[in-house]
Amino acid sequence: MKETNYFNVFKEGGKFYTKSLVPGQNVYGEQVINDYREWVPERSKLGAGIYKNMRTFPFKKDTITLYLGASSGTTCSHLSDVCPEGIIFAVEISPRIFYKFVELAKTRNNLNPILASANTPEKYAFVPLVDAVFQDISQRDQVKIFLKNCDAFLKKNSYGFLVVKSRSIDVTKPPKIIFEQVKKELLSHGYKIIDERGLQPYEKDHRMFTIIK
Ligand SMILES: C[S@@+](CC[C@H](N)C(=O)[O-])C[C@H]1O[C@@H](n2cnc3c(N)ncnc32)[C@H](O)[C@@H]1O
Repeated sequence: MKETNYFNVFKEGGKFYTKSLVPGQNVYGEQVINDYREWVPERSKLGAGIYKNMRTFPFKKDTITLYLGASSGTTCSHLSDVCPEGIIFAVEISPRIFYKFVELAKTRNNLNPILASANTPEKYAFVPLVDAVFQDISQRDQVKIFLKNCDAFLKKNSYGFLVVKSRSIDVTKPPKIIFEQVKKELLSHGYKIIDERGLQPYEKDHRMFTIIK
């Protein structure tokens, strides 16, 4: 395995991997080679961002992250490998999926699952200021939710990542128009956009925006 420019992310034969914090663990059917877990870009938007050469990857061994839309923990499991001494506060709204995520978190000390809506950050006000916010939720008001959380929890000069699925904002409008609207909303809130990447061919009509607070 070769090191990459992305901290604790490795590459071999054109594929990216993280070194598993839990030796031998398989989280979502990914290939595991000598405790290196393949980061499958079709299953993880952050993984897709890496394949698309995303510019800023602030995750280090002790990074504290607020992750919105944890689902069963596919991407969180890779962040857990990347930041072994950090904490990932991971918010998920669906109880059914959340309990699957809790099982994963029992195997990894740096995952902190929170059953809540990301639209009500006051419900998890115990979360400290964080080094990074990552959001992957398919909600109509996903930009407002992201801004609310960055306002409340993101440290100054730190990075937020917003994955936008244009169809969940408005299925009738072309993705290009939706992404322009998103940009305007982020900028008018005072955040600087430092990167944006379409996630095709791994995800259709998705774009990842990176902001700095
Ligand atoms: C596309 S999936 C996330 C996949 C996950 N990020 C990964 O890569 O492993 C979107 C998730 O967001 C959750 N979600 C939707 N609205 C939410 C909200 N308001 N607050 C928290 N989670 C929400 C959904 O239940 C779903 O599990």
